[in-house]
Amino acid sequence: MKQFSIAASFILLLIAIFFNLSFKSKSVIDYQELREIYSKTPSAWPNPSVDEGIVHQELGLLPEPTFPKENPYSKEKAQLGKLLFFDPRLSKSGQIACASCHDSELGWGDGRKGAYGHNRRRGKRNASTLLNVAFVKDLFWDGRAHSLEHQAFFPIQDTLEMNTDLAEMVNTLSGIKGYNSYFSVAFGDEKVTLERISQALATYHRTIKSRASKFDLFLKGRKDILSDEELLGLHLFRTKARCINCHNGPLFSDNEFHNDGFTFFGRPEEDLGRYWVTNDPKDVGAFRTPSLRDVQFTGPWMHTGTMADLDEIIDMYNLGMPQPIPKSAQDRPLLPKSSPLLKKLDLTSAEKKALKAVLGAISARPYPVKPPELPQ
Ligand code: HEC
Ligand code: HEC
Repeated sequence: MKQFSIAASFILLLIAIFFNLSFKSKSVIDYQELREIYSKTPSAWPNPSVDEGIVHQELGLLPEPTFPKENPYSKEKAQLGKLLFFDPRLSKSGQIACASCHDSELGWGDGRKGAYGHNRRRGKRNASTLLNVAFVKDLFWDGRAHSLEHQAFFPIQDTLEMNTDLAEMVNTLSGIKGYNSYFSVAFGDEKVTLERISQALATYHRTIKSRASKFDLFLKGRKDILSDEELLGLHLFRTKARCINCHNGPLFSDNEFHNDGFTFFGRPEEDLGRYWVTNDPKDVGAFRTPSLRDVQFTGPWMHTGTMADLDEIIDMYNLGMPQPIPKSAQDRPLLPKSSPLLKKLDLTSAEKKALKAVLGAISARPYPVKPPELPQ
């Protein structure tokens, strides 16, 4: 009898182990259920994993861009802005246009680590994409420009970019007869002024938008367009992987500044970012959260342009974005601190793959823009 009960409990134990293992090896994710949940409107999606105090805006479709009262949209202004954008005569050398570093075929950046400007001197920061720039609040990686109108003169004057004296540029453009009619239809007369140049450029910029991605089509009702893996990626992005703490809203950016671990403190690439704008020690090493729309096409990534592989970026987030500081720099003031929103994530390799898949699903290759014929 005793022997029988030992054998029975042994068998029971085996059965228990078998069921336990088969439960574990079977996927615990019910994709059908996940698809049903996410097929509802975003406001009915499961709560995101955001930390206390985070003002979270749900992901969604980008609205139409709005144009400021002081610089309303007109087709003529946008057309003039496009000409100026492609015109290298805005630069001192006559060889560098805005479009040289913001190329629609390179995700509206320049595809390089740091941008090449005047005399092929190299800037420290990666050229930002101009896609959806209408929705960016404070421009540049450190937010030093407050509007697109305000922003335009930075690259024109920057000695590492177009290196032009603004009065000289106005002179040059005034001397190009072919521009007269464009300024006239856009502004009422042919006078070339700095304000008009910046308004035209800003108007053109606000028309540079993403095409609809698979994610957008999904939101518009094509419930089967996201694969199971992409759907899981979307769910992880909002929950376990915590990306949504910063990459939120229709732009996939909170338009805020965070230290993402990329300061290179104590090394030649050191860049204190937002601190140079605010002089506030809490901003040391903070940069603006970039939009992740079309991210697959906007590499290389980060303000340094040093990351050329999305898998590596995901791996670093998974480790909590460690920010090693060389011994020689550890006693310096203004030690950068990574954002407390960055934590170790414990993602499995399947989960990391799913996150990468959703980054693809929120990306649509930008339409290439044909350079216009320039006025002579
Ligand atoms: C030499 C390359 C180069 C040229 C030429 C250039 N840019 Fe840029 N652009 C950059 C770099 C690099 C950045 C990021 C700089 C930073 O954040 O400090 C940038 C950032 C921007 C941004 C900010 C985008 C954002 O999301 O914050 C706008 C807008 C922009 N450029 C427009 C222009 C316009 C308009 C021109 C022409 C008048 C121009 N750029 C010419 C390299 C260039
Ligand atoms: C603490 C806020 C924060 C969180 C959380 C966060 N990011 Fe970021 N992300 C940023 C900031 C800030 C940058 C720019 C950092 C820099 O260049 O120094 C960035 C950059 C990126 C880039 C490069 C984009 C580009 O255009 O260069 C990718 C890709 C990215 N994040 C993906 C993710 C993913 C995936 C997650 C979730 C696993 C995530 N991020 C979580 C704030 C955050």
